[in-house]
Amino acid sequence: MVSLKSSRCQFWCALLIILSIHGKVLCSTYQVGDLHGWGIPSSSNPEVYTQWSKYHNFRIGDSLFFLYPPSQDSVIQVTRESYNSCNLKDPILYMNNGNSLFNITTPGEFYFTSGVEGHCGKSQKLHVSVYGNGSFADSPAFAPSASAPSYPTVFGAIPVQASASPSLKIPMFMSAVAGILICLLAI
Ligand SMILES: *[C@@H]1O[C@H](CO)[C@@H](O)[C@H](O)[C@H]1NC(C)=O
Ligand SMILES: *[C@@H]1O[C@H](CO)[C@@H](O)[C@H](O)[C@H]1NC(C)=O
Repeated sequence: MVSLKSSRCQFWCALLIILSIHGKVLCSTYQVGDLHGWGIPSSSNPEVYTQWSKYHNFRIGDSLFFLYPPSQDSVIQVTRESYNSCNLKDPILYMNNGNSLFNITTPGEFYFTSGVEGHCGKSQKLHVSVYGNGSFADSPAFAPSASAPSYPTVFGAIPVQASASPSLKIPMFMSAVAGILICLLAI
């Protein structure tokens, strides 16, 4: 038996999902290394993390998910210099709970490696680039199959920097928020 309330919720939820797919309003969590997880790359695939970051587009609001055995490994965010030289001292961020989420809140370059001695030298290191200055205004035509880059992210982007066209982004964000609220109220 479907009540009026729940069908109304379904409507708004469906709308929200459609909106999020088209507008890329909602954020994604990416598992670092996919099935490989976070660990020393195997000798057959030493470039696993370089390849992985190359084939993903990260935006503000996305999260990087590092999965590893907590007793054997860890994740540290380091500077570019430390990344290049495998210097494990004074990391920017240290995480060792085995399923660590790094939340991307600003554009920039992010460097990670393992906090365990020797792992960095064995290519357990990840570099991702996040662009915060999307080009919404440059691409008025909606390209259905073109992925991420033409749509700037909404979360965080507005207060951080008023890029190309905030007026276009806010309504989408507001309607997503409204959708969530209505959805919650209707349950
Ligand atoms: C990222 O966000 C998640 C969920 O809000 C939180 O549990 C986690 O601690 C955050 N990670 C960092 C590094 O702040
Ligand atoms: C965004 O910033 C990057 C690096 O700062 C730059 O290379 C790129 O051209 C910028 N894109 C836009 C659309 O402004």
